[in-house]
Amino acid sequence: MFDPQSTAFAENPYRFYADLRRQNRPYYFEDADAFLLSRYADVDKAARNPRMVRSLDAFMDPDYIKEQQRARNWHDMPNHERFVQFSLLEQDGDTHFRLRVIVLRALSRRFVEQQRGMIQNYVDQLLDELLPQREFDFVADLASHVPGHIIGHLLGVPDEDCPQLRTWSEDIVQFFDVGRTAEHKLLAETATTEFYQYLSGLIAARRTEPEDDLISSLVAAQDAGEMNESELISTCMLILAAGHGSTIDVLGSGMHALIAHPDQMDLLRDEPGHINKAVQEMFRFESPLPFFHRYASEELVFNGQTYPRGTKFGLLYGSANRDPDQFPDADTFDINRDPNRHIAFGRGAHLCLGNHLSRLDMEVIFMRLLQRTRLIELPDPEPIYKASLSARGPESLRVAITPSIVIN
Ligand code: HEM
Repeated sequence: MFDPQSTAFAENPYRFYADLRRQNRPYYFEDADAFLLSRYADVDKAARNPRMVRSLDAFMDPDYIKEQQRARNWHDMPNHERFVQFSLLEQDGDTHFRLRVIVLRALSRRFVEQQRGMIQNYVDQLLDELLPQREFDFVADLASHVPGHIIGHLLGVPDEDCPQLRTWSEDIVQFFDVGRTAEHKLLAETATTEFYQYLSGLIAARRTEPEDDLISSLVAAQDAGEMNESELISTCMLILAAGHGSTIDVLGSGMHALIAHPDQMDLLRDEPGHINKAVQEMFRFESPLPFFHRYASEELVFNGQTYPRGTKFGLLYGSANRDPDQFPDADTFDINRDPNRHIAFGRGAHLCLGNHLSRLDMEVIFMRLLQRTRLIELPDPEPIYKASLSARGPESLRVAITPSIVIN
């Protein structure tokens, strides 16, 4: 029985994924109304297939889409609909490509790498407070502060406003959880509206006085006629929403993996040059965003089977990354794994635009933590992971540390 909201799934989704991979045909998962692709080769093929698209409007008429939105109760929230539900992630074809190129340019590898010192300073400040405590919650006290702060900084938000960004992002995204109520809906719409108003002010300020930040790059793109203001705001919201929770989750599961494999943690302490590979292995081993969907934009044949137009597929990135046909000893956490062509950031037209940034956050946090401690252990029993198909990470992770220097 495939039940991603069960405790058994949260404890170990990988044995359920292994069952799916053994089946001859993609499993039809009624709750998501989707055929689940679980093998690496199939997920890879689907993510690259231009006839497998993200948005319904690639093949449906707008009235029918509106009807679908009402059926799912995804309507009556004008700002959430305008800025969140129709982000660049939910586009295909020319519009998607146009917006994607703008973000690729603004969030270039060089621009991201320039942030290393700033990230390191911020992480050190947090560690200055946490290490003397000797025991803290790695997720709540450390991981959950970093990505929102860094993305806020990159966007050009003043430091003192970054915590507010985090709350908005969480309130906007919780709307997509199952079991949502009218209260959740109101929370999402209110947060979107407040964030929208805040961004409008920031955009106006950067239009008169540009700085070296993401908002200024996006404003320049708007002024050059490459995007409109609604797309600009939606893109800022997506960048925050896409990078906040996912990075927190993989930081938590990555820390847990290191603690559960002390030989690998020792290896990384001895050879810090392995950090890049170690972080990639964390993404493979516990992919924080294990599920994304696609629709068939026309009737298509996949592995010899015909699917009608509009069929929904689930791309199980988390399962693909544990497929033994692609990764030898796939269930082993090996920080030296090479090659490691994991698919945690997706592939093809929608390949993650924030992968350099999230890897940089991870590298800095783990490097500073290992440099500033001698020992990191779990004081409690095993952590509890989220029961979800679309997110993977520990709810919390208490760690007991021995600092490498005496702190008064
Ligand atoms: C733990 C970190 C992250 C993971 C695992 C992750 C994963 C992904 C995946 C799998 C996709 C493709 C979705 C699909 O196939 O439909 C994606 C798209 C995207 N990600 Fe990330 N992401 C992460 C962090 C970030 C960060 C930090 C940012 C921004 C700073 C970001 C921005 C985006 C954007 C804008 C897209 C949409 C790309 C498009 O549709 O063309 N992500 N991400």
